[in-house]
Amino acid sequence: SELEKGGYPHFMLKEIFEQPRTITDCIRGRINVKGTNVVLSGILDNKERFLNARRIIFVACGTSWHAGLIGEYLFEDLCGIEVKVEYASEFRYRNPVIHSDDVVIAISQSGETADTLAAIELAKSKGAFVYGICNVVGSSIARATHSGTYIHVGPEIGVASTKAFTGQVTVLVMMAMMLAKMKGLIDEEKYREVLRGLIAMPDNIKEVLDQHEHIQSVASIFTYARNFLYLGRGCNYPTAMEGALKLKEISYIHAEGCPAAEMKHGTIALIDQEMPTIVIATNGSVYEKTISNIQEIKARGGKVIVVVTEGDCIVAEMADYCIWIPKTAECITPLLSSIPLQLFAYYIAVNKGRNVDQPRNLAKSVTVE
Ligand code: G6P
Repeated sequence: SELEKGGYPHFMLKEIFEQPRTITDCIRGRINVKGTNVVLSGILDNKERFLNARRIIFVACGTSWHAGLIGEYLFEDLCGIEVKVEYASEFRYRNPVIHSDDVVIAISQSGETADTLAAIELAKSKGAFVYGICNVVGSSIARATHSGTYIHVGPEIGVASTKAFTGQVTVLVMMAMMLAKMKGLIDEEKYREVLRGLIAMPDNIKEVLDQHEHIQSVASIFTYARNFLYLGRGCNYPTAMEGALKLKEISYIHAEGCPAAEMKHGTIALIDQEMPTIVIATNGSVYEKTISNIQEIKARGGKVIVVVTEGDCIVAEMADYCIWIPKTAECITPLLSSIPLQLFAYYIAVNKGRNVDQPRNLAKSVTVE
C-alpha cells in the first residue's frame, strides 16, 4: 500500500492534495466549459419533486452532517426552501414529522452508514422522496434512495474525511444553483459567478495547497495546545465545526467549532493564553463583526490564527498568524477555507506521532449501531 499512497506518507495527505483533481471530476460533464449552465440528471429527472418540496431535510453523520449544514445555508439563502439538518442517529429514533412532500437528502461518503440508512427507510415509509449524495457507487444508500448524485472523488481511505467533504459541498452548490435557477430566484450574473467559481476552484485550491509549508510551521507552533476553538460565520460556521472535528479525530486534541457571534454567550469564558483560536474571517457579509470577535479574543490574551481572503491586510495585522485563500464567491468559500484546516490538523497529528490514517476508536464507516 506504499504504492497506493503515491509517494505521500499518509493517505490523508494524498487525499488532501488530490482535491484539485477531485473537484474537477465532480463537476465534469455537469457544468459546461463556459460556466453558463449546470445540469445534474438526478435533479432534472425529479424536477417537480424539488420544485414542490415543502422542506428539505438533510440526514447524515459526522463530516457528511457538516456538509448538510452548509447545504442549509445554500438552499435557504439561494432557493428559498425551508431546510432542516438532522443527525441520522437522532432522526431515526425520535418519531420526526415527515410529510410526503418533503425531500430528504441523505449525505454519505461510504453509502453504508447504518444510522443514515435507517433514516432513509423511515423517510420512505412516510412517503418522502429521498435523494442521495454518495461517493461509493452502488453502495447501500445509493441503492436505497430514489435518486441521487455521486460526488465522484474516488476511494477515500483515510478515516478522517477530506476530499469527500469538498465533493459533497460541490454537489450541494450545483444542486442549489440548479434549483435557484429553476425557481427563478437567482440572477444570471450571480449564477454564472458561482459556476465560474467552481470551474476556477481546482486552481484556487492549488494556491492554498502551495502554502503547505507555512501551514506546517504554524501547526508546529501550536502542537502543544490541549484545547482549540474554531470560529466562523454563515457557511463558514459549519466549516469551522468540520475543522474542529478533523483536529479531534486525528490529533486527539479537544476542539470545538462555534459561530463567531455566539462566542460571547459562553465559549469566550474558555479563552486564555493556553487556548488558541482559528477564525475563518473571509470577506463576507458579516466581516466587520468577525473583526470585533478577533479583538475580543486578543484582549483576553488568546492567540489567533486567521484564514482570510487574499489582500485583506486589516485582519492579517490583527492576528498572530495568517493563512490566505483566494477570493471567490462567498457561498463557495468553504471549499477553500476547509483546506488549510485539513492540513493544520494533519500536521499537528503527525507532530504528535498519531496514527493519522487510522485514528484510535474510529472506523471509516459505521455499519453497525
Ligand atoms: C464515520 C467516519 C466519519 C464519517 C462518518 C459518516 O464516523 O469516521 O469520518 O464522517 O462515519 O460516514 P459516511 O460514510 O456516512 O459519510
